[in-house]
Amino acid sequence: MHTILITGAGSGIGKATAIRLSPKKNTRIILAGRRLEKLEEVKSELVNPSNHIAISVDVSKKDSLTDLLASDKANLAEHPLVAVFANAGVGGPNFFGPGDRWKEIIDINLTGAYNTCMASHPWLVKAGEAGIECRHIAITSSCLARFGVPGLPAYISSKTAIMGLVRGLAVEWSQSGIYVNAIAPGWVDTEMAKESIQSQADILDMSYEDMLKEVCSVLPTGRMSKPNEIAALVEFLFSNAQRSIVGTTIDINNGSWMG
Ligand SMILES: NC(=O)c1ccc[n+]([C@@H]2O[C@H](COP(=O)([O-])OP(=O)(O)OC[C@H]3O[C@@H](n4cnc5c(N)ncnc54)[C@H](OP(=O)(O)O)[C@@H]3O)[C@@H](O)[C@H]2O)c1
Repeated sequence: MHTILITGAGSGIGKATAIRLSPKKNTRIILAGRRLEKLEEVKSELVNPSNHIAISVDVSKKDSLTDLLASDKANLAEHPLVAVFANAGVGGPNFFGPGDRWKEIIDINLTGAYNTCMASHPWLVKAGEAGIECRHIAITSSCLARFGVPGLPAYISSKTAIMGLVRGLAVEWSQSGIYVNAIAPGWVDTEMAKESIQSQADILDMSYEDMLKEVCSVLPTGRMSKPNEIAALVEFLFSNAQRSIVGTTIDINNGSWMG
C-alpha cells in the first residue's frame, strides 16, 4: 500500500481529508497530531480502519517527526510515503509582552510545516527510487497570508511564510518528481473557526449566531467552506494528474481575497 501522512488529522480539515482519501485503492493514512484519542476516533471512522495508523506527534519538535516516520509502526520501507499534508496548526491572537504566543504559533505553524516537509523528504525520495514517479506535499496556509487583520501578527506571519517555504522547496524538489504547494483557505467550518468567531463575538458583546452572520455577510458567496471542500482540493493536488502546479499557494476562500 502507499502511505499518505496527514498532520492535524484529529479534527477539522485534516480529519475531512483523511476521510476523503482513505477509501482510495492501495492507500493507508498516517493520522498525526498531539491528542492520540482524537486520532483513534478519526481512524475508527475511516474505511478499513485497520489499514491506517494513528500516531501522536508534536510537529514543532523535529525529532518527534523523524522518529515517527522511521518507526516500525509507520513501516515506510514496506508502504512507501507518496504524499504529505502538512496541515497542523494553531490559531488565535498574540500580544507583545508577558504570555506572548509568538513563539508557540511560529513553532507550530511555520517550523512545524518545515519539520514535516524535511522529515518526510528522505522517505519521498525512497518512494521515487522504488519507482513511484509522482509524489506530493501540500501545506495549509490561510487567506490571512493575503491580507492583514488586527491581533494576529504571529498567525499572519506564520501563514505568509508558508508561501515562501513552498517556493523554496518546490525549486529544489520538483525535478525529482516531488511537487510542493500550499493551500490558503478562508473561513472553514471547524473548531478553530468557531473559537475565533466566539472570541470576536465576546469582544463585541454579540451572540455567536449574530457574529457568524456578520462574518459570512462580507463574503461574496455569503458562506464559509465545509472541511470536505478543502479536502477535495487536497485530493486533486495529490493526484497523478497534477504535475504542473508547483510552488504555488492556491486560494480557496469564498472570494474573501481575489488574486
Ligand atoms: N478553520 C479555518 O477557518 C482555517 C482557515 C485557514 C487556515 N486554517 C488552517 O487549517 C489548518 C487546520 O485547522 P482546522 O481549521 O482544521 O482546525 P482544528 O480542527 O483546530 O485543527 C488543527 C489540528 O492541528 C493539530 N495540531 C495543533 N498543534 C499541533 C502540534 N504542535 N503538533 C501536531 N498537531 C497539532 C490539532 O490537534 P492536536 O491539538 O491534538 O495536536 C488539530 O487536530 C490549520 O493549519 C489552520 O491554521 C484554518
